Amino acid sequence: MGGTLFSAAQVRQFRRLLLAWYDAHARDLPWRRTRDPYAIWVSEIMLQQTRVNAVLDHYARFMERFPTVQDLAKAKEEEVLARWSGLGYYRRARMMHKAAKVIVTELDGSIPQSRAALQTLPGIGVYTSAAIASIAFGEAVAVVDGNVERVIQRLSSSGEAIAAKAQALLDPVRPGDFNQAMMELGATVCLPKNPLCLQCVVQKLCRTRGEHPVAPKKAALRKHVCYAFVKRGEEVLLEQRPHDASLMAGMWELPQLEETLPGKGRPLLRTRHSITVTHYSVDIFALGPDDPRLPVGDRLRRWIRTQDLPEFPLTGLTRKVLKRLYVLNASGFVAK
Ligand code: ADE
Repeated sequence: MGGTLFSAAQVRQFRRLLLAWYDAHARDLPWRRTRDPYAIWVSEIMLQQTRVNAVLDHYARFMERFPTVQDLAKAKEEEVLARWSGLGYYRRARMMHKAAKVIVTELDGSIPQSRAALQTLPGIGVYTSAAIASIAFGEAVAVVDGNVERVIQRLSSSGEAIAAKAQALLDPVRPGDFNQAMMELGATVCLPKNPLCLQCVVQKLCRTRGEHPVAPKKAALRKHVCYAFVKRGEEVLLEQRPHDASLMAGMWELPQLEETLPGKGRPLLRTRHSITVTHYSVDIFALGPDDPRLPVGDRLRRWIRTQDLPEFPLTGLTRKVLKRLYVLNASGFVAK
C-alpha cells in the first residue's frame, strides 16, 4: 500500500482488525442507523470541525425540523441558521441550504450517488463527498479528515502521500464502515496528545506506537469583548453582524459596546467563550432602552420578542448569554 508500508497480507489483517474493533466498539450514533444519504450528509457537514458530542443535540433538532432535503430546500435561510446556532462555521449551513435547493430544483430531489457528482454541489468537497459516497452508497473511496491523517502518519511514520495510503488501506467491501472506523480510531484512541496505544487494535501494525512527534499547538489568542443587554418589556434588543463579516456573517447578537465606554459600572454577567484558538472574556452590561451610552452604529438593530428567540439565528455566544440570564432556558427555549 502507498509504496512499501504494508504487504498485501498486512493490509488484509489491518482491515480485519479494524473492522472487528469497529463492530464491537462503534458508538451508537443516530446517523449510523440509516442509509438515507440526506441524513448522512447533514451529519457529515455538522461533524466537520465539531465534536460528536456537540453535534448530537443539534442533529436531532435539525432533522426534526428538516427531515428531508425538500424541507430544507423550502426553508428560509434565517430558520436554517437558527437551527444551526451554536455549531459555528455558519457558512456550512448556508452552503448546505444552497445545495438542497439545487437538488430539489435541478436534480428532481435526488441526491447524487457518486463522489464525483456530489462534488459538483455547493459546500461538498473532497472530504464530504467521500464520506457520503462511501457511507450512503458504498463507493470505495477513502475519507481523509484530520483524524485519519494523524492515524496514517503514525502508522507509516511519514507525512507523505496520506491520501494514497488511505485509499490503499480502505476495505473495498465495507468502505463506509472502514472510513468511519478510521475516524473513530483517531477520535477515541489515536488521540493527538497521549494516544492510547495499549488499547489500539492495530498497534502491532503501527510503525510509531506512541513514539511520535506531537503536533505543535497553535498559540491561543485572548480578547475582551463587551455587549449590552437591553430589555423592553418582553423584548430584547439585538443587532445583526455584517454580511461580509469573516465570522458568523448575518447572525444576530447583543449590541456590541466599545471597551472604553465611561461609567459602565459592574457587568451584569461575565463569561468566557472560545472560537477555535481565540479565547474571549465577555462582559455583559445592562442598559436601559434610552441609555445614551448605547453606541450609534451602522448595524441593523431590532427588538425581538423573547418568544421568537429560539427560532432566531443567534450566534452561539448570544444564545449562551441569554441562557445564563434566564431569557432562554437550558434547552434554548424561552424560559417561563
Ligand atoms: N467524523 C466525521 N464523520 C464521522 C463519522 N461518520 N464517524 C466518526 N467520526 C466522524
